[in-house]
Order: sequence, then C-alpha cells, then structure tokens
Amino acid sequence: MSNLVVVGTQWGDEGKGKIIDILAERADIIARFQGGANAGHTVVVGEEEFVFHLIPSGILRAGKQCVIGNGVVIDLKALIEEMDYLKGKGVKIEGNLFISENAHLTMPYHKILDQIMDKRRGKGKLGTTGRGIGTTYSDKSARVGIRMIDLLNKETFQQKLEINLEEKNYLLEKFYNRERISKEGILEEYLLYTEKIKDCVTNTSALINQAIDEGKNVLFEGAQGTLLDIDFGTYPYVTASNPIAGAVCTGLGIGPTKIESVMGVAKAYTTRVGEGPFPTQFSPEFENGMRLRGKEYGATTGRPRRCGWFDAVVVRHAVRVNGLSNLAITKLDVLDNLEKIKICVGYKYQGGVLEDFPALLKVAQQCEPVYEEMEGWTDDISHIKDYQRLPEKAKRYLERLTELLNTEISLVSVGPKREQTIILKGLL
Ligand code: GDP
Ligand code: IMO
Ligand code: MG
Repeated sequence: MSNLVVVGTQWGDEGKGKIIDILAERADIIARFQGGANAGHTVVVGEEEFVFHLIPSGILRAGKQCVIGNGVVIDLKALIEEMDYLKGKGVKIEGNLFISENAHLTMPYHKILDQIMDKRRGKGKLGTTGRGIGTTYSDKSARVGIRMIDLLNKETFQQKLEINLEEKNYLLEKFYNRERISKEGILEEYLLYTEKIKDCVTNTSALINQAIDEGKNVLFEGAQGTLLDIDFGTYPYVTASNPIAGAVCTGLGIGPTKIESVMGVAKAYTTRVGEGPFPTQFSPEFENGMRLRGKEYGATTGRPRRCGWFDAVVVRHAVRVNGLSNLAITKLDVLDNLEKIKICVGYKYQGGVLEDFPALLKVAQQCEPVYEEMEGWTDDISHIKDYQRLPEKAKRYLERLTELLNTEISLVSVGPKREQTIILKGLL
C-alpha cells in the first residue's frame, strides 16, 4: 500500500471513515491532516457503530499508530470526550495516539464566535457545524493562535490566552452583546485537559517521516470534501481548511515526493449539509425518500443532509485538483430500488454547456444540470462481495462513471459494514 491519501470528492460524508477502516488493516500509521471536530466519520463493526470527529478512524485496528497532524485544529474538550467514548467501547488509545505539537487549539471562544457569527449572517448563513473551525483557522492565519506546544508551557499559554481574551471579550461584550469569558475558568479547565493529553504531544512530522523512511505504510485520512475546500470549493460556502490531497504535505510536514497515490471517495449519488449551491439536488419529495434510504443525517450535527444525483462535473473537478489515482464508490446499495438513475454530465448556463465546475457562485447557483439517464437494477446488492456478481445494470452504471471521470474504480461499497465491500482487481 505504501503511502496513500484518502479524500472526499464531493461535499463530505462520502463514507471516508468506512474506507479508511478497510484500508487501515494494512497500514502502520493513519494520520489526519486538516479540519477539526467538524468531521464525523462513521465506522460500523459488526453491530456496533463508531463515530470519529478528531481521532483517525484507524484507531479501531489494534496496534496502529494514529496521528493528529499540525494542520488539524483541536478542540480539547471534544478530543477528550472522544477518547473517553472510545475507551468506553474498549478501544485502546494510550500509546497509539500522537498529536502534533504545532497543531492549533480551538478554544471555547472560537466555538461561541463561530456560532454567533453564522447566526448573524441571517439569510446569508453558511450553516457551519458550530465547532469553531473558521474562527480557529482565522486566528492561526492572524498569528495569534495557541498551539499544542504553547499549552504545555504554562507561562506561554497564560500570556497568549490573556492577549486573545482581551480582544475576544471586547468583541463578545461590545459587538455581540454577550457574556465575557473568564480567564480563570479556561486556565482551570485546560490544566485538567493538559494532564490527559500531554503524553500524546510530539513532533509528528519526524514520526511520520521516519516511518516512511523505514518503509512503513502510511494512510492519510482526509476530512470534509473537495467542494468544501477553501480554495477549490463553492466559496464562501466551504470549510476553512484545504481538504484536498495537497494539504497532506503542509498538514503533516511531509514532502510531496513521499506521496504515492490518492484515492477519492465518491458516493454513488451526492449529498451536502449546510448552505450553498448544489446543482443536482433532488425535488423535495424524492429527496425525502432518498434521505431515509441512505440514512442521510449529519454524523456531527444530526442535520438532515440535502441529497441529489451523482454529479460528474463535481467529481471530475475532484479528480483534477486531487490528482486522483483511483476511486472508491460508496452507498451503491442506496440506489437499489430505482427504475431510472440520472448522472449529471455538464451544466447548462446562458445557452452554453459548462464542463468544468464554475468558480463564480452565481453561475453554480443558476446553472441547470444536463442529465444522462440510465436504467436502475432494482435488485438488492447489499450482500454482493464479488464485482462479477453485481447486476449487469449496476456494472453499467459503474462503467459509465469510470468513462465520465476517466479514473478507475478500485473499490465499491454496498453497505456500511466491513464485509459489504467489493474490492476490484488491481486495488492496492
Ligand atoms: P464520512 O464523513 O465521509 O466518513 O461519511 P459519514 O460517516 O459522515 O457518512 C457515511 C454514512 O454512510 C455512514 O453512516 C456510514 O456508516 C454509511 N455508509 C458507508 N458506506 C456505505 C454503503 O456502502 N452503503 C450504505 N448503505 N451506507 C454506507
Ligand atoms: P466529514 O469529514 C459534511 C460543512 C458544514 C458547512 C461548511 C462549513 O464528516 O465529511 P465548518 O463547521 O467546517 O466551518 O462548516 O462545511 N462541513 C461538512 N459537511 N461533512 C463534513 O465532514 C463537514 N465538515 C464541515 O456543514 O456547510
Ligand atoms: Mg461525515
């Protein structure tokens, strides 16, 4: 396997967690490189379901080293809750989790400000997860952020916290008419957190590079998806990080020469949580049915996900900006009952047809999808483990996706469980 990046090709929730869990069996290290507790990655093992927000999904595979890289923003309260939740389910964390000393902290004020800022946008709200993602990355760019290593040095932490609180409390009190945040409260809370995680904090760039030099297999776990990328997504309806493959290098301290392949995860249809353009969104009634069939509710916020047809323009964009080597198609079973299935192959706009995803928001909001219609297989495929046993019409659907995306499919998922996975010849 060597070094493999797994990224989302749509608007997140493509099933990355399940794919990482499958691939992690053969990996030595599984590392997150961006995002924060906005992620919700679900893995189903037997009858048990696990949801991950900050800890790499590979932690379920015993003895694997799991890394939270410098590019991730860390809400310690959420992290410790997640550690306790996993320990409660019998997962071993000690000795297997490594946190970058350079990672920035999502502080309580980041979450409060994220929530009130998005609310204040009114009709123009982004529909963020409220996890303080944008506000933490803003402070990182403004060079006032607090890093993991600062937390471990009590004096530095206190100084940085004071400087930050002066400004944040002014904003909260005078601009947003909210309560001030007490420094003492945070210091007390964070002292407890520090005790719980300090042994995990280390130079994770050195750790991963050494592992690569020793020929170990490293799996890079992307969060969110390409269309939520701050540079290549539907700006401003995006997250605050780069979920694309290029971010592995800056988010972990690894050179581009060390990455061998990039797998894109795509749902057999499309979903999106939060606001923003979504050209292939279903009509409300059909959407309700598909949401129920696909259990499309947010793993982090519980919000109903918007659902639509597979959009080849979106995934082609992802193929290019991530340099995808191959694709994993998930949730094919959700299309089982449909007589007809549509695939969007271009966008109609002002008399012409666009083949690339438009950068201008107005165009993405106003364009009309051009659909190709395919026959559905109307058969249960959730038990199938061998590609050749898939109904002919399901194979035709997958073959058409391969043609449209000019990228080979190396894995097909037909249910949430580990065993509901078809690994195609030539994978890994
Ligand atoms: P992630 O954020 O990309 O990891 O995806 P989520 O975990 O947020 O959402 C994917 C959901 O679909 C989870 O509930 C998974 O258990 C589930 N899932 C993954 N693969 C399949 C599949 O092939 N079929 C079905 N029916 N569910 C799947
Ligand atoms: P995983 O890793 C789906 C969306 C939010 C919102 C926008 C900005 O599970 O695929 P943020 O809180 O990041 O500032 O919100 O991004 N969003 C996601 N949507 N899956 C995710 O993660 C997401 N993380 C953020 O809904 O529209
Ligand atoms: Mg998710």
